[in-house]
Amino acid sequence: MTNRTFTMIKPDAVENGHIGGILEKITSAGFKIVAMKYTQLSTRDAQAFYAVHSERPFYGELVEFMSRGPIVAAILEKDNAVEDFRALIGATNPAEAAEGTIRKLFATNIAENAVHGSDSDENAAIEGAFHFSGREIY
Ligand code: CMP
Repeated sequence: MTNRTFTMIKPDAVENGHIGGILEKITSAGFKIVAMKYTQLSTRDAQAFYAVHSERPFYGELVEFMSRGPIVAAILEKDNAVEDFRALIGATNPAEAAEGTIRKLFATNIAENAVHGSDSDENAAIEGAFHFSGREIY
């Protein structure tokens, strides 16, 4: 899965009409979309996806937020995809995100921060497989 990362356009950005704007930033930055779907996480899906954060004080809020409405899930391909995508989306807290980053442009706050980006090649593979079967990746 080297050169691939996984992203979600989160419920806040979908609710605020930013799917098109975010996809435009992603493709303009040279990422190829190799899998994509419009879907909604159940409570159980969100609990499982964010299990690594289950001890954090914001876990309940995070699960409720991520399951409250539809998301766009996608696998993206580019050289150095994980690192370059995290640079494109900016800091977790949009108040600290660099100018021009997706979170600076489109995020609501630290909890509702518009997009997810995998933090390693290993997690990109795990997260991509959570949402897509092999025959949904092109
Ligand atoms: P992300 O980095 O994609 O994955 C973990 C998510 O937890 C993060 O985005 C935010 O949506 C959420 N999160 C991180 N820090 C906080 C916080 N301090 N309060 C509430 N939610 C948070």
